[in-house]
Amino acid sequence: MPSMGPSRSLQWLPTGLLFILAHSCSATLLYSNYKFNPLEHLGGVAPYFEPQDPPASPSTPQGCTPVRAAYLNRHAAIYANDFDYEEYIEPFISKLENHKGLDWSKIPTLNFLSGWTAPITEAEQELLTRVGRVEAAQLGATLSFRYPNLRLPTHVWTSSAERTYKSAQSLVRGLETDDNWIRVISIYESEKAGANSLTPYKSCPAYSGAAGSDQQSVYLNKFTAPITARLNALAPEFNFTSNDVYGMMELCGYESVIRGSSPFCDLDLFSPDDWLGWEYTADIQYHYNVGYGSEVSGFVGLPWLNATANLLLGDEGDEDIYVSFTHRELPPMVIVAMGLFNNSGFGGGESAINDTMPLDRINYHRAWKSSHILPFLGNLAVERLHCKGTYGYDDGEYYRVLVNSAPQPLPDCADGPGTTCSRNGFERYIRDRTDIFQGFSEKCGVDYDNSTDVLSIYTDLELGNGTLVGKRNVPLSYCR
Ligand SMILES: *[C@@H]1O[C@H](CO)[C@@H](O)[C@H](O)[C@H]1NC(C)=O
Ligand SMILES: *[C@@H]1O[C@H](CO)[C@@H](O)[C@H](O)[C@H]1NC(C)=O
Ligand SMILES: *[C@@H]1O[C@H](CO)[C@@H](O)[C@H](O)[C@H]1NC(C)=O
Ligand SMILES: *[C@@H]1O[C@H](CO)[C@@H](O)[C@H](O)[C@H]1NC(C)=O
Ligand SMILES: *[C@@H]1O[C@H](CO)[C@@H](O)[C@H](O)[C@H]1NC(C)=O
Ligand SMILES: *[C@@H]1O[C@H](CO)[C@@H](O)[C@H](O)[C@H]1NC(C)=O
Repeated sequence: MPSMGPSRSLQWLPTGLLFILAHSCSATLLYSNYKFNPLEHLGGVAPYFEPQDPPASPSTPQGCTPVRAAYLNRHAAIYANDFDYEEYIEPFISKLENHKGLDWSKIPTLNFLSGWTAPITEAEQELLTRVGRVEAAQLGATLSFRYPNLRLPTHVWTSSAERTYKSAQSLVRGLETDDNWIRVISIYESEKAGANSLTPYKSCPAYSGAAGSDQQSVYLNKFTAPITARLNALAPEFNFTSNDVYGMMELCGYESVIRGSSPFCDLDLFSPDDWLGWEYTADIQYHYNVGYGSEVSGFVGLPWLNATANLLLGDEGDEDIYVSFTHRELPPMVIVAMGLFNNSGFGGGESAINDTMPLDRINYHRAWKSSHILPFLGNLAVERLHCKGTYGYDDGEYYRVLVNSAPQPLPDCADGPGTTCSRNGFERYIRDRTDIFQGFSEKCGVDYDNSTDVLSIYTDLELGNGTLVGKRNVPLSYCR
């Protein structure tokens, strides 16, 4: 082989350029710049982050100004979801207590367990953490920065659970100036509300909270097998199980949002491949539970999309910024109704959708990544923009969607600058999506006779004006 070293093959280049080339080559060859943060791969347990997926700029396109916006937010960080706690975390913590005799201090990568105490008690489950309250308040401040010309909301809507209600209150505290004037309207999490609540999946009998568990457990067993084998070689007495490993990895997320950091996130304990296995396991579960692998997702998500589109398209809105809080289930169902993060997008057919999430190996190039969709405080925004002097496009009204601040291209609606879509295009898009996914009650097989397919909370005056928040109105049970 003839030598093709830079000094011989690039002799004819000016010396300056040669230096730059050689320099940048050696930089990429000599140093690994691989970075991995497990907190960005923890699905529903991921602390809030903005994955820039896709990396389009969150700024509005040149010449465009937001004139109205609507946000659907998952509640902020909590101590632990009751299912996660009971299924994975509590059994691991009890097992630790039953193995008090084990001297962890001598065991590599697990030695921290000798001084570790559980960050969660049974009583704290489901409550918002301090980090959660701060992050929700921060989102309030972010909205005021993002929309300096819009009127602040006079009302914020939330489903009635404590963690969603407190998230709404915290956001209001971050949004309000001194006055105590933004009201929080609580929408009861009824099982008979039809589509008219912020938790419509609860009134949908065809939705099952357990959907996806069977498929999830297939990949859970696969990715944890080598990990349990490795940990059991270190501490055979403990007999680590798949569920222990899954719970320990969840603790990385929960302990981080409770204490600010967690030894379970250490990459010497669980490698990047281990975390990617955890993330894929969660993505399989969400795919079948609230994603494209569930027959009802789009039907449950559509009423929010349709109601929101009406609020944004209308002439005069009561609010410039509509903000609502819900649980992790609703935003992904709205995302299905909208056709975003579709693994089959740009080809592939509907029938192949489950094939895009194989149970025996990771689809690394999937669009459906729960960490990017529903971290704590995950948020979905639809914006109405006014654009003028945008080269190459007519002046007028355009619409844009952001997920955790990343602009999302809409399927079949891309006739505006950047990821935006014209008013006509957006109206047609909403009609098309409504045609596909209308019929909540029928699809859900509702078993009560007063159901409705329409979400009307934003315009229903009978719901009243809600409750003021107050800067320091923190109930005692909430002070830790
Ligand atoms: C149906 O009736 C139940 C019980 O009165 C009520 O809680 C629920 O909100 C009603 N549903 C609708 C869609 O009005
Ligand atoms: C380890 O745990 C598994 C699952 O709980 C159980 O089936 C097995 O018998 C245990 N092995 C030992 C050696 O205790
Ligand atoms: C996902 O994309 C495929 C291929 O474009 C399309 O056939 C399917 O309808 C999409 N699914 C939804 C729910 O939009
Ligand atoms: C995907 O799998 C789920 C669960 O088995 C099933 O209900 C659904 O119909 C499947 N989707 C398609 C498009 O085959
Ligand atoms: C969608 O909104 C339109 C306009 O308000 C309304 O007439 C229709 O009933 C809504 N459909 C659904 C399924 O929400
Ligand atoms: C809600 O506020 C509006 C405007 O301040 C007021 O006119 C209305 O009476 C209030 N409604 C209730 C139910 O308090």
